[in-house]
Amino acid sequence: MSETKSKDIQLVHVNAQSGSYDVMVGLDILSEVGPTARRTAGGNVAFVVSNTNVNPLYGEVVNRSLSDAGYTVATKVVGVGEAIKTMSVLSDVLECMADAQMTRDDLIVALGGGVVGDLAGFAASIYMRGCHVLQVPTSLLAMVDSSVGGKTAVDLVHGKNLAGTFFQPSAVIASIECLTTINRQLFTDSCGEVLKYGVMSDAELFRELERRPINEGNYDLERIGKIVKRCIEIKRDVVDTDEREKGLRQILNLGHTIGHAIEAESSYTLGHGSCVAAGMCFIVRACAKRQLCPDEVAQRVVSTVERYGLPTGSNISTDSLYERALADKKRHGDFINVVLVRDIGKVEVATLPVDDFRVLIEEGR
Ligand code: GLY
Repeated sequence: MSETKSKDIQLVHVNAQSGSYDVMVGLDILSEVGPTARRTAGGNVAFVVSNTNVNPLYGEVVNRSLSDAGYTVATKVVGVGEAIKTMSVLSDVLECMADAQMTRDDLIVALGGGVVGDLAGFAASIYMRGCHVLQVPTSLLAMVDSSVGGKTAVDLVHGKNLAGTFFQPSAVIASIECLTTINRQLFTDSCGEVLKYGVMSDAELFRELERRPINEGNYDLERIGKIVKRCIEIKRDVVDTDEREKGLRQILNLGHTIGHAIEAESSYTLGHGSCVAAGMCFIVRACAKRQLCPDEVAQRVVSTVERYGLPTGSNISTDSLYERALADKKRHGDFINVVLVRDIGKVEVATLPVDDFRVLIEEGR
């Protein structure tokens, strides 16, 4: 269910088992952060976690909005990129929260992309056994995926997102004009996750993405806002049904097992969305070969991924991808859960013996 709150702000209501909240999508809505925090979380201290790219751009408007709403504002600025999503940075954030005399009634505002959101969300979930968090995603990937649904994490030496919690935010504010300050390469990378939503659940969304790439020419913010909202609705429908990834939520991992393997093999130099796009192409080609979906489906997915300027495969060896997949969270003993494509907008989760998954990787080349 979604509704219009006012002319400019679209609301998507998330009703997960452990908490309900609104995702607000609109243009120039960062000034809503303070009033939204007051309405949904309360408290006295707002602890903004941001990074060295985003804070200079949007820190001031967010801080002002929080002060105007009666908060004492403290800010922690972390570095940029996946490399900072560590236990040691998490520990530093927690100490700074204690320095700011935060209580469990207060809130963190996560202002940035997926890395900031995951880190700040994790900090909020464990500080004094849990305070509030307001997610303010500024990247496309964070808007359509990581800020919604309550997954929080840091990376371990052994892999990405291996320590984390499920912890739903008090609200999410996606202010679409923030996307204009993201470099085009990063925006393009995030399109991998956007395409995933179309392939996974919505043939009409996929047709719209196919019609004209959203990363081409000048950004059409109104169109992008509608697409962001649609992706959030799809994710909401999944999370409302299965918050803890016991069943349906696994479909969000379409392309991710091979994608994570490519990401790790590239030492995280290739972006997450690009790796998911490549992983999805492996899967859809293998599905067509196994006659699980028509050839035309594989052709449409691969050619659209290509039109967006994203990778459609990888020259990393099957053995290397397979070894990485064995370390994946989706492996259970000798079996691994894989999201298979049956049509555009239709997928299913299959449990395959790991040996068969190796064959699937080979078939997907
Ligand atoms: N990013 C996948 C999920 O939230 O479940």
